[in-house]
Amino acid sequence: MAKRILEPNTTLYPVAVVLVTTGGAKPNVLTCNRVASVSAEPPRLAISVRPNRYSHALIRASREFVVNLPAPDQQTLADYLGVVTGREEDKIATAQLKLAPALKIKTPLLADCPVNIECIVEREIELDSHTLFIGLVQAVHTDETLLDANGDVDVARAGGIVYACGAVRERPTGKFNPDDLRRRVKGE
Ligand SMILES: Cc1cc2nc3c(=O)[nH]c(=O)nc-3n(C[C@H](O)[C@H](O)[C@H](O)COP(=O)(O)O)c2cc1C
Repeated sequence: MAKRILEPNTTLYPVAVVLVTTGGAKPNVLTCNRVASVSAEPPRLAISVRPNRYSHALIRASREFVVNLPAPDQQTLADYLGVVTGREEDKIATAQLKLAPALKIKTPLLADCPVNIECIVEREIELDSHTLFIGLVQAVHTDETLLDANGDVDVARAGGIVYACGAVRERPTGKFNPDDLRRRVKGE
């Protein structure tokens, strides 16, 4: 196997791509691939968000977030939510997303995502380009058709997850056109 040395980067692919909802007076959603399961007892998820994202201030203010797992047919939605900012546009209205109430927190879930994980921010770690928000999982909602015989979520039953295969750079700048994505999420 012939190998080449690249400039340092995280190169951890394939990765899950998730849609993170934030609450407060005006809920918002951003796409994240810097997401990880970081402990089991109690369960914690961590997301890493750049300080200039609109969602960053919203998470910091509410101390909550919801990790919504999109199904493969929600890829255009994931791209749109990851290219357009809620600072300039109500993404939930444009993409006609349905919100549903969470069980334990105030931040709403994305009703049309098959899995939603409610988290309360336990701590934050500043990591130069990003802030790592470590969330304690409060409740997990799942489409019951995804449950296997042990009662565990089997994402293969939803056809997998968005971008489950292949390399994903953090932000497909240049590859995706916000106007085109906006038209597509509106079904135009
Ligand atoms: C596939 C994909 C993954 C992304 N992952 C992250 C991430 O982990 N952290 C982050 O801060 N931004 C990430 N982004 C970029 C944000 O989703 C994007 O800047 C978004 O417009 C921010 O929305 P907001 O300003 O409404 O919060 C990603 C974008 C895409 C398309």
